[in-house]
Amino acid sequence: MIKYTAMDDEREEILQRESMEKAVLYVAELEKALGRTPRGCVVTFGCQMNARDSEKLSGILVKIGYSLTESEEEADLVIYNTCTVRDNANQRVYGRLGYLNSLKKKNPHLRIILCGCMMQEASVIEKIRKSYRFVDLIFGTHNIFKFAQLLVTMYENQEMIVDIWQETDQIVEKLPVSRKYAYKSGINIMFGCNNFCSYCIVPYVRGRERSRDPKEILQEIEGLTQDGVVEIMLLGQNVNSYGKNLEHPISFAALLREVEKIEKLKRIRFMTSHPKDLSDELIEVMGESKKICRHLHLPVQSGSNRILQAMNRRYTKEQYLSLVDKIKTAIPDIAITTDIIVGFPGETLADVEETIDVVKKVQYDNAFTFMYSKRTGTPAAAMENQVPKEVVREGFDKLLKVVQDTARSRAALLKGQVMEALVEEVNEQDASLMTGRLSNNMLVHFPADMAMIGKLVKVSLDTCHGFYYTGHIVD
Ligand code: SAH
Ligand code: SF4
Ligand code: F3S
Repeated sequence: MIKYTAMDDEREEILQRESMEKAVLYVAELEKALGRTPRGCVVTFGCQMNARDSEKLSGILVKIGYSLTESEEEADLVIYNTCTVRDNANQRVYGRLGYLNSLKKKNPHLRIILCGCMMQEASVIEKIRKSYRFVDLIFGTHNIFKFAQLLVTMYENQEMIVDIWQETDQIVEKLPVSRKYAYKSGINIMFGCNNFCSYCIVPYVRGRERSRDPKEILQEIEGLTQDGVVEIMLLGQNVNSYGKNLEHPISFAALLREVEKIEKLKRIRFMTSHPKDLSDELIEVMGESKKICRHLHLPVQSGSNRILQAMNRRYTKEQYLSLVDKIKTAIPDIAITTDIIVGFPGETLADVEETIDVVKKVQYDNAFTFMYSKRTGTPAAAMENQVPKEVVREGFDKLLKVVQDTARSRAALLKGQVMEALVEEVNEQDASLMTGRLSNNMLVHFPADMAMIGKLVKVSLDTCHGFYYTGHIVD
């Protein structure tokens, strides 16, 4: 195990830049051996934070001389940026690793790298060391900023390099980033989580909550807009508690007010809001804003007070519903989406009925429904009353039907309206159509050409297809 000691953030940036210069030489050697530019492939599992981390990893790969590819088969270096929020995310990684090993047999230059949340679990590292010995480099969530340096170590060694930190208080800024989209970008405003919902592994693998300095955030957004970005998504596990622990505390709502002032920026989104911390000030700022999108992702997890308490969510069904009422009154055109877990220990079908009642009352525009997954080390994993699979399935199917019916009826309400869409990409099925995203996060497909990507257009929502629309530009 290689151990580095933390140093201050600026010195760290310099060290990483020096490592990139060194890495360039190794990549040049590889290029000679291959007779072409080496190709790197970054595969992202999990949430928006991981997606943003992947852009940082890609940025460094490009900086040191790799070209990026989406195909693992074509790659000379593959990074799996992993997620461990539910067990099926882990299983997907193990499954695909076997396949990567077969690729390595065909391309001896291929390097395999694992990072992200799953790597923060000791049992995972043990398993990889034992059964996946062909992996070249493993690092975790706390030292991702050392990627360049770790790459150099990897090039200089033959054996598997493992470097996992338990915690960090470092926030290293200003390293290269290669964005997936030219016109929109995620941006971290905070890292980690302090909420310890009893089912959730994120606080253990992402560490304690740390907010970035607002000046750094605003500067980064300013820079992104100079670079053509018109929509940003502010990222944190619980953005509503942003800024509370800074030397000069600032609220999330106050940060949003500052972000709004950035002239070239057209749209602001954020993820995720914990209901217990959503302030009246935030509702006010959203109501007044011309740029904050009409979408709020407000995970409820359950509608049963007994389960909410066991989950350590720190709100009741009634508090959640009255919060939603307040939001809808202040911002009538807002779309509300949520996350729901079915099968938390001790949950009965009567509890699921309570959740269904919340779905009907709130009228969610969309909801992500998950079957509870036992995560080792969390309090819920040690609870004795785990729910049998068939009972989970029954509740899940029942809930899903209501969720889908509600989402469909919400979507249908927009028929015939003209709304602003950000043109995002060519439609996957029909190249004559472009796909745009409405402020409320719904997708609409319409005839347009590729030159429109990144532009805001007015679109008439002509035909509803369940959860999305087709339409035409009316400008
Ligand atoms: N910080 C965000 C959620 C991040 S995880 C928030 O609090 O809203 C995304 C979602 O995964 C959660 O909202 C939850 O619904 C789900 N999830 C988390 N842990 C889970 C588990 N052990 N089993 C099933 N779903 C889980
Ligand atoms: Fe997990 Fe709860 Fe933190 Fe969200 S707020 S990341 S669900 S512990
Ligand atoms: Fe998964 Fe880590 Fe995000 S566990 S959901 S990638 S914070």
